[in-house]
This record gives sequence, C-alpha cells and structure tokens, in this order.
Amino acid sequence: PVLVVDFGAQYAQLIARRVREAHVYSELVPHSMPVERMLAMDPKAIILSGGPASVYVEGAPTLDPAIFEAGVPVLGICYGFQVMAHELGGVVNKAALGEYGKTETVIDRAEGLLAGSPDKQTTWMSHGVAVEQAPEGFQVLAHTAGAPVAAMQDPARKLYGVQWHPEVKHTPLGQELISTFLHQCAGLADDWDPSSIIEDQVAAIRAKVGSDQVICGLSGGVDSAVAAALVHKAIGDQLTCVFVDHGLLRKGEAQQVKHDFVAATGIKLIAVDASEDFLGALKGVSEPERKRKIIGEKFIRTFEKAQRQVIEEAGKAGKEVKFLVQGTLYPDVVESGGGDGAANIKSHHNVGGLPKDIHFELIEPLRTLFKDEVRAIGSQLGLPDEIVWRQPFPGPGLGIRIIGEITRPRLDLLREADAIAREELSAAGLDRDIWQCPVVLLADVHSVGVQGDERTYGSPVVLRPVSSEDAMTADWSRLPYDVLARISTRITNECPGVNRVVLDVTSKPPATIEWE
Ligand code: XMP
Repeated sequence: PVLVVDFGAQYAQLIARRVREAHVYSELVPHSMPVERMLAMDPKAIILSGGPASVYVEGAPTLDPAIFEAGVPVLGICYGFQVMAHELGGVVNKAALGEYGKTETVIDRAEGLLAGSPDKQTTWMSHGVAVEQAPEGFQVLAHTAGAPVAAMQDPARKLYGVQWHPEVKHTPLGQELISTFLHQCAGLADDWDPSSIIEDQVAAIRAKVGSDQVICGLSGGVDSAVAAALVHKAIGDQLTCVFVDHGLLRKGEAQQVKHDFVAATGIKLIAVDASEDFLGALKGVSEPERKRKIIGEKFIRTFEKAQRQVIEEAGKAGKEVKFLVQGTLYPDVVESGGGDGAANIKSHHNVGGLPKDIHFELIEPLRTLFKDEVRAIGSQLGLPDEIVWRQPFPGPGLGIRIIGEITRPRLDLLREADAIAREELSAAGLDRDIWQCPVVLLADVHSVGVQGDERTYGSPVVLRPVSSEDAMTADWSRLPYDVLARISTRITNECPGVNRVVLDVTSKPPATIEWE
C-alpha cells in the first residue's frame, strides 16, 4: 500500500481517499507507529499528513528520520513537510506571515512534483510556521508571501514536500499533484479500484464462515445493504437479515428494503414492524437526547428478539449462528481505533449500537473502504440506485427531525414534505451534488399565513441541504432558486398544516447538520 502517516489532522483521511481516487491503494497509520513497522508493511510510497502541532514546540510529534533513508518515496504535506524539513536539517520557524485559506503561490520551478504546473497556482494553506530554508540537497520549487519554501524536492532521494494542502478541493490542482507524486515521482501504476475487493472478500468470507450461519441487521442505509449483499454473494442462504422498522423511516424506505432489496439480491429477510412499540415509548418526549436514548434502547431489544428467533430456527435445523455482519467503514475504524493525537474526532451515534454482550464473531467486509467506494461496490453487486445512492440518514430517523413531540400525524406530515423535497431534488438532477438534505418540522412553532381567504396558523418546515465530504464539516448547498420555489410551493400545497418553508443557510460548524 501507500501509507498515509496521520499526524492528527482530519486531513489524513482525505489524503488516503485522494490516493485511492488516483487508483492506488492506501492505508492510514498513526505517526506513533515505529518506522520499522511501517517499513515492514512494504509501502510503495509514504505521505506525511498535516497536523495541529508546531515542529519547534517541545513534545511535538515527530518521526524517526530513518523513514527518509529507506529509499521509499516520501511526500510531506503541511506539518509533514515541516517535519521532513526539520529532521533533515532545514530551518523551520514561526512564519513572518501566517497563511490561512486560499493563497497565491508562485511556482519557481515547474519540475518533478510540480511538472506541468502553471507559473502561479491558488493553493489552500493553513500554517503559522514556515520552512525558511530547505535542507541540503533539496530544490525549492515554490514560494508564497508567508512561506519562503512552499514546495521542495530531492528527486535523487525521492523526497518531496509541500506547505499547502493538495488533498482539499480548494487547491484546484491538488489532485494533479498527488497523482504526479504517485505515478511520476514514485512510479506507481494506477491499477486499484474498489471492485477489486469483491472477489477477495467473497473468498475470505467463505473461508471464515465455513458451513455456519450468519446474521445481519439492515438499517435501510447503504453500508449495511452493501455489506449484506457482499456476504450473500459469498455464502447465499447461510445469511439471514433482520430489518427493524421503527416507524421513523421516510416514505417508501421500508418498502425499498422489504421488496426492492430482496428482489435484487434474493436475501432471506425477517422484517419486524415495531412502529407501535416505538411511538408508544416516545409519547410525550421532546428532548433530543432522550429521544435518541429511547430509540436506541428499543432498537436493541427489538433486534435481540428477532435475533433469538433466527438462532432458534437455525438450532431446529441443527445449525449454529456464529457470525454477525456489520457495515463498518474505514472512517469508523480509524476514528474509533486511531485517534493518536487527533484533534477532531467525530462522536459516534449509530442506533444505540448493537448489544454489548453479543457472542458473535464479526464480519466487516467494508472495513477498508470509504463511502464512495462502498457505493461503487453496491452498484457492481446489482443493488438498486435508490439504495446505493441513499443519502445518509440518522439511525433515529425522522424522530430527530420533528422538533417537539413525535406523533403519528406529525410523522405523516413530515414524511410527505420530505418525499416532495427528495422528488424535486432528484428531478433536478441534484441528488449526487448534495450530501444530504434533512427536512425538519418545527412542530411546536406556529406562524400566521393565508391560504385562499382563510387565515392559517401552521408550522414551518425547514430545508437543510448541505454539501460535505464526511459530515464532520459541511456547508449549506446553494440550490437553484427555481428548485427551492418548486419544493416550497408543493410542500405548502400538499402538506396541510404547513404554511411556510424556510431555508437553513448555516454551515457546520457552528450548526450541526441535523437540528437535534
Ligand atoms: P450532525 O447533526 O451531528 O450529523 O452534524 C452528522 C451526520 O450524522 C448523522 N446523524 C446521526 N446518525 N444516529 C445516526 O446514525 C444519530 O443519532 C445521528 N445524528 C446525526 C447526520 O444525519 C449527519 O449525516
């Protein structure tokens, strides 16, 4: 693999993704991993990520310089670049001018790492420390007002570094730089794509499971669906899926799982309609964290019951259920396991997680993949677009999109409004441009309106379209006005009791994506 050494910035994952987008397989490792262990992984190249620290501060994370002498091509980015410069004898100091955001960058030599670059580039920077002098043997390739050495290379030793962040989209030529490093500087072939993983996983799952039985909880989301489809491809009817309908799903979603998904895969499915039970437990509750807790606990109990049923039935046939499938993705693995110096860790909120005392062995066929890769595999496995391209949807569902108490009429109303927004966004071809678009019912808020000759006193619906790469940060999507107008007209016409549609124009931070 190409190793991405994580110095504790949220950018490390992005770097790993960009490497894969250049068709080269990558893995993240913490900077605390001993260099011998990194080298024992036989890396084809190494990329050092940015990080929140300053190299000249006591106790700042560093790296055994042996890494620069192993003959493996290394690219340092931001903090990683400064570590490289510092360890090899360059001069690194507090910058005379810190640079944050888009930065005009002058390319002094369009060679090697920057081969083919125009004379000037806009790059995205975030640094208060600068490399003043490159280590001996290095050529300086670029500079900015605040960074005398903004890019450098020593092709003979295959060492490269940039002060800016090529992995973010705000650096327009960033992907080119990563690709140049991998293919030209390091000489790697572009031969990896996510579907390469299907055959490997099928073989691995068969070998692991043997003739035993496997259970999988489906949430209706992309990850569990793709994980289930992959396991089903490997072991067919040895897999049983359980789907709990908590009554907080969007319009048509239960149907999609129970019919479209089953039709596409032929998977054995036990569907439990537990909506009465969930709504009963949620009566009178409007505090978001209590909602989450109730939904999470109920979910576990319901899932356990279905699970017992599967185990009993298998038992009658003389078989044993030994494995549980989970749709864990690479970012979950990195965030919960790693965390070495990470300044920014997303809190995990699945549907309360699964029971702690499970006696199953886990099968997690998507553990090395990012979301877009999981989608590619889902399509390859023949899953319908409605499932593969489903927006991320919170485990507690519409329950946390009704601000106030959750009641059946409110759920029905929100389901309609949400369906209209989704329909219009799809019709406008915007599905894949936005990350997700929560539709929120402010059930306890009332405002005056007029419809026909009548004064109304109804509730507003909020549209919250956002663009994001990973839900950790997000920006509000600039949707075309005519699409917004159509959504607004249809919702106020077709959803009795809603007399106002408003648009949320806040980024995350300071807001979160969901309203609760
Ligand atoms: P926030 O609102 O924290 O959301 O910006 C970030 C992402 O997480 C989803 N989300 C949840 N997912 N259970 C989940 O499984 C939850 O309780 C939950 N709350 C938020 C949200 O839809 C967004 O994609």
